[in-house]
Amino acid sequence: MTAFLPAKATPMSVAKTLQAIPLFSQLADDELARLAQVARERKYPKSSMILFEDDPGDALYVVLSGRVKVVLVGEDGREVILSILSDGDFFGEMSLIDDEPRSAHVIAMESSRLLVLRRHDFQMCLEETPRIAVSLLKGLTKRLRMADSKIGGLVLLDVAGRIARVLLELADDHDGVMIARKMTHNMIAQMIGSSRETVSRTMRTLVEQRVVSVSGKNITVLDRKALKAAAGLFR
Ligand code: CMP
Repeated sequence: MTAFLPAKATPMSVAKTLQAIPLFSQLADDELARLAQVARERKYPKSSMILFEDDPGDALYVVLSGRVKVVLVGEDGREVILSILSDGDFFGEMSLIDDEPRSAHVIAMESSRLLVLRRHDFQMCLEETPRIAVSLLKGLTKRLRMADSKIGGLVLLDVAGRIARVLLELADDHDGVMIARKMTHNMIAQMIGSSRETVSRTMRTLVEQRVVSVSGKNITVLDRKALKAAAGLFR
C-alpha cells in the first residue's frame, strides 16, 4: 500500500490517506474527516527511537511510509526483534488500551513518516466509532497469530526451520515470492534468536540448494514447497 500525506495536506487529502490505512478503512466519510482533524504527521530519521520500553503511553502511531522495528533489549545489550512494521501497520495501542507502560522499544529502520493520534483523540475515536475497535481487534489477532507461530518455531524448529519461516513471512508481506526490502543476516538473526554467522551459513546452503536466490538487497523464494517443508508448514 502506498499511503502518504502530501506536502501541503488538506483535511480532504488527510482523510483519503486515512481511508487507505486498514485500521481506518471501514470508516464513513464524516468519521474520516473528524479523524483527519486530530491526526498529525511526524517524520523520524533512520535509527531514531520512536518509543522507549517502560515509558508511559501517550499516542497511537500508524506507519505511512518507511519501516520500524519493535524490539526488546536484554541486559547484555542483545536485541530481539519482535516485529518489523511498514506502511499501514499501527503500533503503540497496547499502552493506550491497558494503561501499562510501553511494552517494547520501537525504532525507525529507515527514514519513516508516521501518523500520530494522541491518547485522548484515540479514545474519543474508539467511543464514537466502535468499528475502529473491530479493526484494532483484527490487527491484534493477526499479531497474536504471528507471536504463536514464533513461539512454536522457537520450541519446535531448528535454526534452519526458523529462518525458513521468517523468509516465508517476509515474502508473504509482499507478493509471496520476493523479499524486496533490505533484510541483513543480522536482522534475521535478531528475529529468530540466533547468530549472524549461523544465518549466513544457512542462507548460503539455501542458495546452493536453489531454494532462494539473493541479488543485491532482494531475496527471491525459488522453491516455496521446500521452504515450507523446512518451516514445518505442510498446508
Ligand atoms: P505499546 O506497548 O504501547 O508500545 C510498544 C508497541 O510495540 C506495542 O504497544 C505494540 O503496538 C507493539 N508491539 C509489541 N509487541 C509486539 C509484537 N509481538 N508484534 C508487533 N508489535 C508489537
